[in-house]
Amino acid sequence: MLSGAIRRASAVARPSTFPSFSPRLASPSIVRTIATRTTQFTLNTGAKIPALGFGTFQDADAQEDAVAQCLKAGFRLIDTAQVYHVEDAVGRGVKKSGVPREDVFLATKLWCNKFHPDDVAASLDDSLKALDTPYVDLLLMHYPVVFQRGDEPFPRDANGRMILGKTTYVDTWKAMADLVKSGKVKAIGVSNFSQGEIQTLIDKTDVVPAVHQMEVHPYLQQAKFNEYLRANGIHVVQFSPLGNMNPFYRNTGWSKDIAHTTPPITESKLLKEIGDKYGKTPVQIALAWGINNGRSVIPKSVVDWQIEQNLAADFELDPADIEKISTMDQKLRFNDPSADYEYRLYSDLEGIEGTKDGKTH
Ligand SMILES: NC(=O)c1ccc[n+]([C@@H]2O[C@H](COP(=O)([O-])OP(=O)(O)OC[C@H]3O[C@@H](n4cnc5c(N)ncnc54)[C@H](OP(=O)(O)O)[C@@H]3O)[C@@H](O)[C@H]2O)c1
Repeated sequence: MLSGAIRRASAVARPSTFPSFSPRLASPSIVRTIATRTTQFTLNTGAKIPALGFGTFQDADAQEDAVAQCLKAGFRLIDTAQVYHVEDAVGRGVKKSGVPREDVFLATKLWCNKFHPDDVAASLDDSLKALDTPYVDLLLMHYPVVFQRGDEPFPRDANGRMILGKTTYVDTWKAMADLVKSGKVKAIGVSNFSQGEIQTLIDKTDVVPAVHQMEVHPYLQQAKFNEYLRANGIHVVQFSPLGNMNPFYRNTGWSKDIAHTTPPITESKLLKEIGDKYGKTPVQIALAWGINNGRSVIPKSVVDWQIEQNLAADFELDPADIEKISTMDQKLRFNDPSADYEYRLYSDLEGIEGTKDGKTH
């Protein structure tokens, strides 16, 4: 279902230098020696989660080698999902890397057609089988939207409209909480929730998510929501940390018009200017910005030089530079499938105006 978006790694040549790095601006006398860190954050379960992670959405054929490569290079957090249809490739990639399973923080997501409480445990078992592992470090509820129960991931009526299920995300959450006792899941969290929806989970179940995975990048900073999550002990994992670098959301129609005209992160003048000071690329500055704000980031790439570049993105940024990046916040949400999913996502959050009626699957 995602095949239209696939681009092969082999089609992308390794450039002789990183494309957006300008050596002429980075004279050796003014560029500092930057220590690359391996930051970890502590979840409300007490477990550690790496700051720097690896996304696996798209390019299914390339993921086995990409995951193996990224782990060998030093990544220790892998983000995947049932609906990406890459869990088996991810599992093979982990094995191929030779990195012991216990050294990897592996996260996957339950998909919306498996949210009925009676389906949750079996769905996790399917993920574990595909990933070829006895447990995951984190299981996320992918969206707060419940689709019709069954094996069709995108159940639609005769008019192509999504058919929603009858249970609620609170029922799903309770079933997920039960899974922690089984030892097959070390921590549970959510993704794409509004503040109100997270508060509902806490009020109705007393089980606070360990993680909220959500869209955050310099163009969509969500400062207030991040404050709320921090105050509640919920760790943020930024998806699409490179903003509008992934064309998938424009092509599906999930991004509003402005996403088509906003310069990509690699072309941001401010990020380039800051990057020159550190001898880093705009991409690395965008990732470091997330980490320096206490969040994990999970850039996706199946291109070897990009994977290496992204791995060198955990370093200390001056507070003054973090402050400068805050001026880039345009509340631009690029990933909003509300219209397609027949459910108003992010209802109390920034960047939902002008959602387009796109359809992906
Ligand atoms: N929970 C959710 O609903 C949700 C939604 C979206 C994403 N995610 C997760 O977040 C991950 C990342 O999200 P994303 O793919 O939307 O956005 P992203 O990681 O911000 O952007 C990916 C795009 O940036 C390119 N790229 C990566 N590193 C680069 C570099 N160093 N220089 C230049 N270009 C670079 C990639 O190129 P190539 O394609 O050539 O590698 C790809 O086109 C996903 O893989 C998935 O695991 C979760």
